[in-house]
Parts: sequence; structure tokens; C-alpha cells
Amino acid sequence: MTVRAETAVETFRLCRQFGDLRAVDNLDLRVDPGTLYGFLGRNGAGKSTTIKMLTGLLAPTSGTIRMLGKNPLDPGEAIDVKRRVGVVPEDLALYDLLTGRENLTFVGRMYRVDQDVAQDRIDELFALLELGTDAGEEKRLVIDYSHGMKKKLALAAALIANPVLLFLDEPFEGVDAVTSRVIRELLTRVADQGATIFITSHVLEIVERLCTHVGIVDRGRLVAQAPLAEIQQTGTLEETFLAKVGSTDEIHANLSWLDDGDAAAE
Ligand SMILES: Nc1ncnc2c1ncn2[C@@H]1O[C@H](COP(=O)(O)OP(=O)(O)O)[C@@H](O)[C@H]1O
Ligand SMILES: [Mg+2]
Repeated sequence: MTVRAETAVETFRLCRQFGDLRAVDNLDLRVDPGTLYGFLGRNGAGKSTTIKMLTGLLAPTSGTIRMLGKNPLDPGEAIDVKRRVGVVPEDLALYDLLTGRENLTFVGRMYRVDQDVAQDRIDELFALLELGTDAGEEKRLVIDYSHGMKKKLALAAALIANPVLLFLDEPFEGVDAVTSRVIRELLTRVADQGATIFITSHVLEIVERLCTHVGIVDRGRLVAQAPLAEIQQTGTLEETFLAKVGSTDEIHANLSWLDDGDAAAE
């Protein structure tokens, strides 16, 4: 019998209730080390709520989490987990009144990264993500950043301490095609090094291009979880997604004032 490596993330019957709404409903996730796990679902399916619970931003209503061999819900163990984890949360969590470089320096200090190491990493991240291509940009406060720049800076902040586990909430949302490509390649490199990456997305193409494993969430429930290659054996990811979260009947998109083809031809 082969001994399995410790899972990177595992949840057992994880739930989060908001009033009458069960946003996350008995979630049993399993993310193996070194995988690029895409957590897919429609808007409002419960992806951000899940990632917030996994990263300690939101307390679960019930259920347990196992992460990097520890229990992150136990205050005594949480810090050991957190120092090895990088996060790009939904709201990006940047300091608006600091420059990009100051943000990264601050995050590096919080993670206790050696200052020289941190400065070298900041230089590399700035160059790769084109965060300070001219002198003016280096002095710009985050409050004046574009959405795409903020997104890149948040990713840089998540990478500064060289985490073994990375959580990214919709990292490609609102970024241009070139940046999207750079981020994709960067994440692939990070995963090649052995890190585990958990990303949420509502965009199938991104998960299809980047991820090795897929979990599909629908109204808080996990409706599929498998290696991407396994899903693709029985059809495209889109077919599986629509079958699991949509209606299997034909989708009819129409508006009452749009003529159909026949009427327009008359
Ligand atoms: N703080 C909150 N209070 C009340 N309802 C919330 C809160 N956060 C999220 N929700 C609700 O929980 C559901 C899941 O939200 P979310 O996890 O953000 O979905 P996703 O990230 O998949 O789009 C949605 O119906 C959302 O409106
Ligand atoms: Mg979300």
C-alpha cells in the first residue's frame, strides 16, 4: 500500500450560514499537495465564502478544516499554517495610502521575510508584473492604481513569502489578456516548484487552461471534484459544468422584444 502524502487542504462538512441562507453547505473538499485546484461555480455559489473560511477571514458555522497537517481553526496552530500560506482575498486587502512597494515591504515584514530577501523579491515581482515601469508609477499610491494593477500587486503580496499553499479568489477577474497570460505562467511555475494553488473562478476557460484538478460548487454544495483529465474523458468541462449546475434541458436565451429570425425576414 502506498502512503499518501498529507493533503494540502481538506474540509469535513464545512458550513457557513448567513441568516436563513446556507452559503456553504456540508463541503468536503480535498486538495492534494502540488495540485492546481480550480474551484468553479456560478456567481453566488459560495466560492468566496469558502476561501474566506479556509484563510481565516470568516469563521465556519460548523465543520472542520485540515490544512498542511494542522487545524487552522485552532488558535494555537493557526499561526504555523498562516506563515506558509499566501492569499489574494476577494477585496484584495491592500493599503490604499501606501505605494505598491511599501505594501509589499509591509507584507514581507509581517511574514518575517529577511529584509534583503524581501527587497530582491519585490524587485523581481515588480519587473515581472510590470508594476513600476516608469518613475511616476513607483511613487503612486495604491488608491490611484487601476483595478488590474491592484490585482497584480495583491498577487505579488501573496507571493512575497514564497508560500507552499496559495489561495486566490478570482485572480483573473478584471485583468487584461497579457497580464492574464503572465499570471497564468507564473502560477504554473509556482506549482511546478511543488506549491499547492487553490483558485476560485466563474470562468471555465481559465480553469481549463490552468488547473489540474477541479471542484464545482453549486448553491453551497460540492457537486463534482476530480482531476481535470478525468472530467474531460466524459466530455468538455463546460458540458460537465452545465450538467451539474445548470439545467440539462436546452438553454433558451431570449427577450420578448427581440424578433426571431423569421419575423425579421418578413
Ligand atoms: N456577509 C454576508 N452576509 C450575507 N450573505 C452573504 C455574505 N457573504 C456572502 N453572502 C451570500 O452568500 C452567497 C455566496 O456568496 P459568495 O461566497 O460571495 O459567492 P461566490 O464567491 O461564489 O460568487 C451569496 O448568496 C451571497 O449573497
Ligand atoms: Mg466570489
